[in-house]
Amino acid sequence: MAGKEKLAVHGGPRLIPPGTIKPWPPIEVIDRRMVLDSLNGEIHTSGVHCQKFQEEFAAWNGNRFAINTNSGTAALHMAVAACGCGVGDEVIVPAYTWSSSATCALHHDAIPVFVDINWETMNIDPEKIEAAISENTRAIIAVHLHGLSVDMERVMAVAARHGLKVIEDGCQSHGATFRGRKVGTWGHANAFSFNQNKCLCSGDGGMFVTDDEDLYLRARQVWSFGETRTPMEDRDYHAYALGWMYRGNDMLAAFGRAQLTRLDHYLEVQRRNAARLTAVLEGTPGVILPTEPPDCWHTYYNYTIRLDMEALGHADDAAAFRNKFVKALQAEGADRGVGPWQRWILPAMTVFQARNAYGHGHPWSHPRARPVDYSPDQFPLARRHADWSFGMTYPLRAPNSPDVAEQVGLAIRKLIDNIDDVDRVDVAA
Ligand SMILES: Cc1ncc(COP(=O)(O)O)c(C=O)c1O
Repeated sequence: MAGKEKLAVHGGPRLIPPGTIKPWPPIEVIDRRMVLDSLNGEIHTSGVHCQKFQEEFAAWNGNRFAINTNSGTAALHMAVAACGCGVGDEVIVPAYTWSSSATCALHHDAIPVFVDINWETMNIDPEKIEAAISENTRAIIAVHLHGLSVDMERVMAVAARHGLKVIEDGCQSHGATFRGRKVGTWGHANAFSFNQNKCLCSGDGGMFVTDDEDLYLRARQVWSFGETRTPMEDRDYHAYALGWMYRGNDMLAAFGRAQLTRLDHYLEVQRRNAARLTAVLEGTPGVILPTEPPDCWHTYYNYTIRLDMEALGHADDAAAFRNKFVKALQAEGADRGVGPWQRWILPAMTVFQARNAYGHGHPWSHPRARPVDYSPDQFPLARRHADWSFGMTYPLRAPNSPDVAEQVGLAIRKLIDNIDDVDRVDVAA
């Protein structure tokens, strides 16, 4: 393809026919059967499907303990609490991730301290963690973004040197491995999400996992009203500590169990589709493809591309140009699960800039708190990534085939071949 094809966004023919990209997740007989089984049961809160889901997920991931939650965020907060993070303690978090990878620390009165990302992996740069550690640091939250594991050997080594706890945020990376070992089995207390977009989707929901019995028991208290006996046991209805209501429910657990039976297959589909997309896009000027470091098994939860804004002549209006590119790509028919993900680095978000989570400047105003610097300039790679990147989920997911991934790749190439026309896209129109 050598330029001067009219873009669909400007009225030209769209490259990908309507309805090509199928929605996520595939719903099969087993999903319907399991959800109906839950409905036909008597307990709709923490019922038998919740118990089984915990057991089956723990077995699948290789953990001793699992607690089914109503979100990944709940599981993260439980991990922060279980690890003993409290008022004025600092928790290290990547500057580029989902907001609740960091606000989970605030929920327990701890203070996030941000670290820039590694440009290649898009994850926290393990080399930069040590410089962010202070006498108040209690934990490191290692977020495995987009289906790629952080270098967990380095993170665990830094944590061991400083006596810190490690929390893995595996919400985007079920099944990803580092040196053959799954995410969620390295850290002390770890979290997964099962929301709509996740590779294991139950609509909403999450899982806290750990191998440490003490952490498990502490997390369980936070999970259910500060009680020590769960609703599955003989409750005494006594709040022994501050707790929330983070329990999952039986119907969603049934859905999650059904999806779990196909999770390994889904991940293989994603890798196969990602391989085709990479083959189509390799060598395309101005396009930086995601990498899979030799020690990692990438699940391509989100196949994240960076447009090389310097090569494309848009270093000064990178985010605006990326938005034009994405609008043009969606108009070509890549209209499901394609777009920029997180456009803000976390330290630039108002919740951190305002330093006022609980009123009166809390927790930053607490006498134990050290001053922390949230100026965005300290995180140049995270900022560049936020402005240059967009990603895709559905086109690479089951039931979509490599041919669908190829069509999206060809649409990207069409835009690159007609890059001056992309610049004329009116994002507001
Ligand atoms: C990296 C990351 N952490 C945490 C979460 C929070 O998960 P949930 O939406 O289930 O609370 C998400 C997903 O939204 C995420 O992508």
